[in-house]
Amino acid sequence: MNSRNEKIETIIAYGDDEAAIAQASDILRKGGLVAFPTETVYGLGADALNADASAKIYAAKGRPSDNPLIVHIADTEAVYELASNVPQKAVMLMEAFWPGPLTIILNKKKIVPDGTTGGLDTVAIRMPSHPVAMKLIKESGVYIAAPSANTSGRPSPTLAEHVIEDMNGRIDMILDGGAVGIGIESTIVDLTGEIPTILRPGYITKKMLEDIIGEVMIDKAIIEPDPNLRPKAPGMKYTHYAPKGEVTIVEYEPADMKEDYQFSAIDVKTENAIDDEIKTNNQKVIDKINALVAEKNAQGFKTAVIATKDNAPYYKCDSVLVVGEADKGVTISANLYAILRKCDTIGAEYIYSEALNQNELSGAIMNRLLKAAGHRVIKVH
Ligand code: TXA
Ligand code: MG
Repeated sequence: MNSRNEKIETIIAYGDDEAAIAQASDILRKGGLVAFPTETVYGLGADALNADASAKIYAAKGRPSDNPLIVHIADTEAVYELASNVPQKAVMLMEAFWPGPLTIILNKKKIVPDGTTGGLDTVAIRMPSHPVAMKLIKESGVYIAAPSANTSGRPSPTLAEHVIEDMNGRIDMILDGGAVGIGIESTIVDLTGEIPTILRPGYITKKMLEDIIGEVMIDKAIIEPDPNLRPKAPGMKYTHYAPKGEVTIVEYEPADMKEDYQFSAIDVKTENAIDDEIKTNNQKVIDKINALVAEKNAQGFKTAVIATKDNAPYYKCDSVLVVGEADKGVTISANLYAILRKCDTIGAEYIYSEALNQNELSGAIMNRLLKAAGHRVIKVH
């Protein structure tokens, strides 16, 4: 909706259509809003250097105005136009990971309006690798300020259908590029301090960053759910991704982690014994979830389980939602948000999820899942 609350006619077109890109570029240059695919999630774009245009983003999303936007660019020259004091480590990260799912925070130049950065004197910049995003930035000739194209508080969109659900009638155009590849938002790293700091975990892991620039910290406020810690990325403080039903994570934890750790040094287990142990622990999670589900079903509630592929056949509930393969992070990240949205479509009232922490993206995935669950976790021993 625009400022007078009138419904807008939203144009929906395929992102691989040249004419559609030309039309979208025109809309952006005139200060309008266009949703487009990136390799992480769909973005809701406006001209980043036009304060009136980026203000429209906040209205369409229902987003708090203190939550800054990421500026999307298509060539590294742009960084020097938007930011001052670009450190060597930023250059190294740009060379290693751009175009790609990494956002860097730098000190902003005056040219970037306060409306785009939520009043901060820093600016978030990212060069996406998705061909439609790239084409749109190049052809429009504008730097595109774009948050995820969801209504504030809902899971980010990973399909054009999700954008249509949230934004139809509120924005000028939606470019459909099919399913995105990664499915969770970019890693954000702040380079304005002494030690580079991860403000939001994503596909580019701490280890990948450290391989290029050495020591990297993680903003404490995103690891510990402590209400007294204020995350450095303003957006990380809001409740996110939560379906209407109540989500609970069920996680296996060794009874005494310390003891287990001491024993492992002297207790050389055979591979078969380790396999058996993993199976038993996994079974404990399945049994606990089935017990919780049975209780809720007996009370007449609708239940769903978010399960990894191999475990899926063993759940007895109203809907099993298969999220991916336990040890392949990107199969999970690509599906997670669609599954959280599906919980609402099927009207699930109680949702139980396995802990999705046995893969290379578990830091980023568990960050989102814990938010969806309001940090409700049941441990089984
Ligand atoms: O993958 C992505 O990054 C997607 C796609 C569309 O590029 N975009 C995205 O934007 O996730 P958004 O607005 O949903 O999330 C941006 C996050 C927010 O948590 C915001 O607070 C933080 O980045 N952020 C933006 N500018 C910042 C700044 N100058 N300092 C600290 N945090 C900042
Ligand atoms: Mg977002």
